[in-house]
Amino acid sequence: MVTGQPIIQVLEGKDLSPKQQAEVLFLCSLAYENDFEPVLSIFKNPTHVLAYVYEVLVSHALWITRWLQYDHLLMLRTAYIEAVAAHPAHQQLGLGTAVMRAVQACILDFDMGGLSPSDERWYARLGWERLEGPLFIQTTDGLLPTPDEEFMVLRLPRTPKLNLKAPLSAEWREGELW
Ligand SMILES: CC(C)(COP(=O)(O)OP(=O)(O)OC[C@H]1O[C@@H](n2cnc3c(N)ncnc32)[C@H](O)[C@@H]1OP(=O)(O)O)[C@@H](O)C(=O)NCCC(=O)NCCS
Repeated sequence: MVTGQPIIQVLEGKDLSPKQQAEVLFLCSLAYENDFEPVLSIFKNPTHVLAYVYEVLVSHALWITRWLQYDHLLMLRTAYIEAVAAHPAHQQLGLGTAVMRAVQACILDFDMGGLSPSDERWYARLGWERLEGPLFIQTTDGLLPTPDEEFMVLRLPRTPKLNLKAPLSAEWREGELW
């Protein structure tokens, strides 16, 4: 188990060294118990937050930009959080929280933060709110309802007044739609 404060680095995907790319892939694959390469490869222009303790990558998150449409009307430039992971040997030590707090401090210029949670309560502690309205994916054939998906938002200084029961849609993408 590691102790001590993590050193946080914020880096655009294109600036990650090959060693860091391998570290991110290794950590996410370990935390998600799956080969994470196909997942990481679909994120366009990610910005990574890396937390190191004694030069070991112990936790990670990234954000990409997605345009989400609120209430069938307003386009919101959303910092969409993905690949939140803490090393399984070093969980429950505040390391995941440390990267999320760093992400949240970096995305203040966006219209909104967004993510699809696996554990809603974990994010709720950090100010994230569950959207209760219907979710859709925009396709060439119209709006595809995605009733089984969950979505949480983080209100930022530029976030308009949000009704959490209003519909929200996102553009289609490969892999996980939300
Ligand atoms: C989710 C994950 C990143 C959390 O990382 P972590 O470093 O273990 O989390 P932290 O230590 O920062 O969080 C611990 C805090 O959360 C609290 N917490 C943990 N689980 C909680 C829950 N289900 N509900 C509420 N609080 C919870 C703890 O009580 C603790 O709070 P405290 O600091 O006030 O005591 C990690 O478990 C992980 O990598 N999981 C596998 C991948 C994954 O599912 N990622 C998220 C996908 S959306």
